[in-house]
Amino acid sequence: MSSTNNIDMDHYMVRGGKPLMGEVTIGGAKNAALAIIAAAIMSDETVTIENLPDVRDINVLLEAMSVIGVMIDRVDRHTVKINGSQVRNVNIEYELIKRIRASYYLIGALLGKYRQAEVPLPGGCNIGSRPIDQHLKGFRAIGAEVSVERGEIIAKAERLVGAHIYMDVVTVGATINIMMAACMAEGKTTIENAAKEPHVVDVANFLNSMGADIKGAGTDVIRIRGVEKLHAATYSIIPDQIEAGTFMFAAAITNGDILIKNVIPKHLESISSKLLEMGCVIEEFDDAVRVKGTSTLRSTNIKTLPYPGFPTDMQPQAGVALALSEGTSLVTESIFENRFKYVDEITRMGATIKVEGNTAIITGVKRYTGARVSSPDLRAGAALVLAALSADGVSMIDDVHLIERGYEDFEVKLRALGGCIEKCSSDADMQKFTLKTAVV
Ligand code: UD1
Repeated sequence: MSSTNNIDMDHYMVRGGKPLMGEVTIGGAKNAALAIIAAAIMSDETVTIENLPDVRDINVLLEAMSVIGVMIDRVDRHTVKINGSQVRNVNIEYELIKRIRASYYLIGALLGKYRQAEVPLPGGCNIGSRPIDQHLKGFRAIGAEVSVERGEIIAKAERLVGAHIYMDVVTVGATINIMMAACMAEGKTTIENAAKEPHVVDVANFLNSMGADIKGAGTDVIRIRGVEKLHAATYSIIPDQIEAGTFMFAAAITNGDILIKNVIPKHLESISSKLLEMGCVIEEFDDAVRVKGTSTLRSTNIKTLPYPGFPTDMQPQAGVALALSEGTSLVTESIFENRFKYVDEITRMGATIKVEGNTAIITGVKRYTGARVSSPDLRAGAALVLAALSADGVSMIDDVHLIERGYEDFEVKLRALGGCIEKCSSDADMQKFTLKTAVV
């Protein structure tokens, strides 16, 4: 399991310039796993979750769950058994939980099962204002009284009764959260304008495997018939669409050739189609995708949208690739307003990008030059690592702990593809890396 100590001391040292080549295996989807481990406490029987990614966000949520009495048995790095029969209280006070966005899934799970939840307002990546009004609207619609007091969300209900809920915006978090609470409400709930992301479907499949009755996940109308109890299940989490997409862009950015294994190619279509427009070659297999880069990437335009549109979580990786493409590209961020924080950092590596409102106007340059940069958030941090791997010279990336929130063994996987990257925590290590990797 990843350690949570001295996390601010870690940096990635990268010497760029080598195309990434070879095979990489993708882990379980972090954003599906966060909801699934929270939902697992809704049964009194033991639930086994497989293909769990070993990343910081998951480990923090599991730790917080154990604080309220959930029995967590980490069978191996990627398998956990969860038993929620001994939950002692419904008030999560654990300090670290505020840092992960998905702590809000404990509200849906606890409210559904115990009709009561007290959970700190979520934090997570600082990528813009992240309201939770749609979550609260849904809980209220099925009969909960919800208030926000002393930085906590407090939800209570005598009875939860199914309702017809129309979401004002397409939101992954609120769709999943309401789906969880509603699957133990009385009667039928309909969620209209629901999010269709692969992890919404995965959470619905998981809940159904515990005996829930959810239909329509993956379309914009989800119908849930409440059940009294959920039972034991063994469930394997889907592959991570964003980790896969990050390695696909790694091939493009470094002009490499990567076979990305354990993926669902259908989930990657918006990413594949942009890489094709940029001149990369894509080969699709049943559960793998191969991306071959090109020495002259072409510009294109990208707008982030809810699934099946281009994911906002891939926007920084795409921006870093487009900044190396011939011509001018426009990248429009329509989900979160604060997702261009990597632009200042990548500019220090030689990119030419101007941000106007929610659009980045990118004029391609031939190459990046190594620099010291800092990860502004999880996905932007990963994008900067990819830029560093293609840059001339040495780069140092600070705030690696943000990247580790969502990528398991990131530097190990990149090294296996031929990337010259090491995690260092002391000045001596960093100097050693620079000397060791110097081209004579
Ligand atoms: C999840 C993902 C995150 C991803 C995002 C969009 C997790 C833990 N995180 O975040 O990586 O970037 O989906 O794919 O799964 N909104 C409201 N009111 C609400 C909730 C959301 O207005 O109550 C707005 C948000 O401000 C945003 C949009 O809806 O503009 C989408 O947000 P949402 O899909 O809920 O994102 P998260 O679930 O927080």
